[in-house]
Amino acid sequence: MLEKKTCPIEGVMEVDFNAEPFLTDFKQIYQQMHSGGCPYAHSTSGDHYAVASHPQIISMLKNYDQWKSKYGPGLNYQEQEGVLVSVDPPEHTFEVKIVANAFSMEYFRSLIPEMQAFVDTQIDGFYADGQVDLHHALSIPLPLFVIFRMLGIPLQDETGDKTDFVREMIIGSVGLMLTPTEEVMRQLEAGSVDEARMRAIAGTQQMFIDHLTNCKKKLASGEYQNDTNVVCRFLTTPGPDGTYLTDEKILGFCGFLLTAGSATTTIMLSNILYRLLTEPEAFAKLQANPDLIPLAIEETLRLDAPVQGLFRTNDHQTDLGPIHLQQDTKVMLLWAGGNLDPNVFDDPQKFSLDRDLNKVRRHLAFGYGTHFCRGAPLARLEGDIFLRTLLRRLPNLRLNGPAVQEKRMPVLQGFRELPIAWDVA
Ligand code: HEM
Repeated sequence: MLEKKTCPIEGVMEVDFNAEPFLTDFKQIYQQMHSGGCPYAHSTSGDHYAVASHPQIISMLKNYDQWKSKYGPGLNYQEQEGVLVSVDPPEHTFEVKIVANAFSMEYFRSLIPEMQAFVDTQIDGFYADGQVDLHHALSIPLPLFVIFRMLGIPLQDETGDKTDFVREMIIGSVGLMLTPTEEVMRQLEAGSVDEARMRAIAGTQQMFIDHLTNCKKKLASGEYQNDTNVVCRFLTTPGPDGTYLTDEKILGFCGFLLTAGSATTTIMLSNILYRLLTEPEAFAKLQANPDLIPLAIEETLRLDAPVQGLFRTNDHQTDLGPIHLQQDTKVMLLWAGGNLDPNVFDDPQKFSLDRDLNKVRRHLAFGYGTHFCRGAPLARLEGDIFLRTLLRRLPNLRLNGPAVQEKRMPVLQGFRELPIAWDVA
């Protein structure tokens, strides 16, 4: 048993971040944290605290010497060397230089025609039915298509469609991010971790190893160029000191990008449409003025942030409000909670297209500071193409039954099914 670093504290809310009501009604919990005058929580299921105050989160993220990423973004103290969200400067600076080269706005924009064609083809496939579960028909496939395209790996080939096992891997790994270490170890020792999930994790890792080998071979033969895909870019871009990423780091990047770039965006896409279909006034306003699409995307990211929160650890002991923290205590920065902070956003629980876009963009859905999401412009582009195309092609769009919530990944909250219908011309 690991020594506990946290305990209940008078005046600090007790929250189980792995159970109800958090899994269904997390906004209610954040509201209580804000209105109670103490925007902190102690977790009853994992050994950590959490913070929901927007200014407090920003001030922690500006204090780089204290709040570290080295133990990883999840609850567990990551022991293996990670990438990006699991490293601090100067290592992070080195990695970011390489990612920035691979993730330019120009590159993201170059993907627009393919993303548009993909969305149109998916819609062609189900249009005549007049109804579909949009989550499975578009919100899952689009971000996966984009990430696989960037990585340079075919999502479908002669061995089949990789969507199911990749989703299994993502749900398995993200699903454990808030699970206490003792519980993960107990499950592993008891052999009770789902076998299909273990196969999916191993299969995904093998897919990346094969791809890395293939890219190296084809770069050497001249069949691939430095910019053929992001793996080629990683292999051929030196960091600030002239050295290159190791194979382990590149494999880590692939796994991280697959999860960080797809699961999050999938949730965002379904959230955007659900919001509009359940807010008729805002929906009518948007249909009358499609220039409001960027605001609708940002307002959804603010109100329904896909990532509830991620962790930092303190490098030396300190106080956080009424809480005294031992060195290296896990603290969850609640992006979704900061987005509902009434000190920053008026009437924060309301979805409104009357807000000022620049003010809405102060939301924390993509994090803040050193580790700010490198894929944010891409996620926004995907949201824009997704929404614009649905509005153009599916008239009288409406919900077609209850939207089912996704509860297998407490750190990411959104939908598992989104049934919609439209009028077929
Ligand atoms: C709606 C979709 C998305 C959301 C809500 C989201 C959210 C986040 C958040 C909250 C962080 C900060 C992590 C931290 O501070 O610990 C982050 C980092 C990151 N995201 Fe995203 N993300 C999204 C889409 C994407 C996409 C599409 C990609 C890539 C294709 C991507 C790549 C990254 C990378 C590389 C980082 C690490 C940045 C660093 O450590 O320097 N994300 N994301």
